[in-house]
Amino acid sequence: MTGVHPAWLPAEAFRAVNSRRVAVHGEGLLVDTVRAEVAAAESSSPELVLSLAASPGSRGVLGDDGFTLERADGVTRIVAEAPAGLLYGFFHVVRLGEAAFGADRPVEVHRPALRRRMVDHWDNVDIHPIMGQVERGYAGGSLFWERGALRADLSRVRDYARLLASCGINAVAINNVNVHRTEAHLLTDRLGEVAAIAAHLRPYGIRTHLSVNFASPIVLGGLATADPRDPAARQWWEVTTRRVYETIPDFGGYVVKADSEGQSGPFAYGRSHAEGANMLADALAPHGGVVHWRAFVYNHRQDWRDRSTDRARAAYDHFAPLDGQFRDNAILQVKHGPMDFQTREPVSPVIAAMPGTRLAVELQATQEYTGQQRHVCYLAPMWSEVLRFQPHGDGGPAVATLAGSGGLVAVSNAGDDPFWTGHPLAQANLYAFGRLAWAPDADPLTILDEWIGLTFPDATPQLRQALHAMMDDSWRTYERYTAPLGVGFMVRPGRHYGPDVDGYEYSPWGTYHFADRDGVGVDRTRATGTGYTGQYPQPWADTYESVDTCPDELLLFFHHVPYGHVLRSGSTVIQHIYDTHFAGADEAAQIRDAWSAVGHLVGSDVDDRMRERLDEQVRSAAEWRDQINTYFYRKSGVPDAKGRRIY
Ligand code: GCU
Repeated sequence: MTGVHPAWLPAEAFRAVNSRRVAVHGEGLLVDTVRAEVAAAESSSPELVLSLAASPGSRGVLGDDGFTLERADGVTRIVAEAPAGLLYGFFHVVRLGEAAFGADRPVEVHRPALRRRMVDHWDNVDIHPIMGQVERGYAGGSLFWERGALRADLSRVRDYARLLASCGINAVAINNVNVHRTEAHLLTDRLGEVAAIAAHLRPYGIRTHLSVNFASPIVLGGLATADPRDPAARQWWEVTTRRVYETIPDFGGYVVKADSEGQSGPFAYGRSHAEGANMLADALAPHGGVVHWRAFVYNHRQDWRDRSTDRARAAYDHFAPLDGQFRDNAILQVKHGPMDFQTREPVSPVIAAMPGTRLAVELQATQEYTGQQRHVCYLAPMWSEVLRFQPHGDGGPAVATLAGSGGLVAVSNAGDDPFWTGHPLAQANLYAFGRLAWAPDADPLTILDEWIGLTFPDATPQLRQALHAMMDDSWRTYERYTAPLGVGFMVRPGRHYGPDVDGYEYSPWGTYHFADRDGVGVDRTRATGTGYTGQYPQPWADTYESVDTCPDELLLFFHHVPYGHVLRSGSTVIQHIYDTHFAGADEAAQIRDAWSAVGHLVGSDVDDRMRERLDEQVRSAAEWRDQINTYFYRKSGVPDAKGRRIY
């Protein structure tokens, strides 16, 4: 589309494929998509052959999404057992570029580690008075709706589907988990809009999911109750779900935020979340659908004076006792950390606590707490740490394995912005999410290099190097100039952008740092605190319990310590705060400098947008540095050992 940045699929990314003779063998919608993607299908003596395996007997080895790649006798061959595999194989060849047509390659098998690789949109149909159209969206309006109605031209949705498929994503939930009145109707009388969106996602192998309101039987059906034990409520879901599948036969399923931040749920009827989820699972089961039931349940009307309530404990306390009670097609969707997508959090203990439940892990590509797509913050290194984390210690299964049966989900960072994601470099987060969901062990910096190669196909070594210098460590840079040592938040309430150290300190949201003249941090130990450390299996229960073994980067998440406490790094907490904040703000300025040297190498549209964002990052990082340093200097009275300027 004119005026829209091609992201990681510019025409040049297809040079290697398009200059070859290609043959595509097979039938079906997705095979047709592959055929349409290649310049000269069915050509004689092809150099690239993409085929669906003839023998159905071999079915099962590659599954729905896998493919093999081989190069011999001057021919590169992709073989898949199912159409989606062929599509993923095709995009793999695109990624390889010339390398796919070089030396011989013995047969390689490629299969995704996670079955469902999903992005969740927090899009509203209407403009919400506080949240705007896309809740926590930093990339313009919705790709799907405009001024309260489905967009007349959905061609960009197809382009979006193509981008998603090219990095392996196969499911999209199209609307906000906070389902407001208008959006509730997408399930019934506005279902045609969902079907129209699904029609644009389908050719790229992407299934459409819908966020639904738990109270729908009341709100839409006019019933008196949504009680999961009420036969009329259950029947309403059955009938409604059947209609959904009559309209959209490959519909993926529902996403539900229940009893969370004001959304309705089973608690109103004294029922458990398993009962609530199972009612929807039962309605979906005959059609092969799933319900993603979110575990983000906590008391958001807490009294800050109440020291016994710990928001971090909430998901485990609510859900761990329900393990084994969820249907097979009910997937518990757990945020990767126990709080809320902070720059640094431990892995949620729920992930280790529910072996009898299908789990999906939820990440946040939209940068709500990581700079809102004004700051450069490449998140794949954080996600990679989460996915590789072994909740039961060395030798135990990694988070990616524990989520294998459910999937990996990211809250989308895309909108109708010409660069898709506001900050042009934030595109890398969406790309890397898809690639990590396919291969959680992949090196995030290799993925970044791949993204650079596709997005800037003619990048000089200087541009490539500059982008790495700006992005490789950008998550840690962001961490350095914001809330220290895992304590979290300290952001402006509501908007969640910019520093406000005490903004949430006396609020009902359960997000406190407890800084006083002597020290800072949240005591979550079993010995003297909220007992949260006891939600982890060993060795983590003990590792986190002791200040001596707790990793520095999470110290203030787990412990309240004096400012003079010596970290494992050898520095005191207060000096660490000063050092990291001066360093982080300096690094933000270096990121801008790195771009100034190469900005002229890319189109002026990208350069202009980059400069505007980088100026804001530098300004904001200095603001963070000065507020955090000044706050802690005033609280502690301890001067900076290096005598730098604190206000
Ligand atoms: C955060 C975010 C909300 C969102 C919620 C959720 O609290 O600020 O906007 O609705 O997460 O994940 O449900």
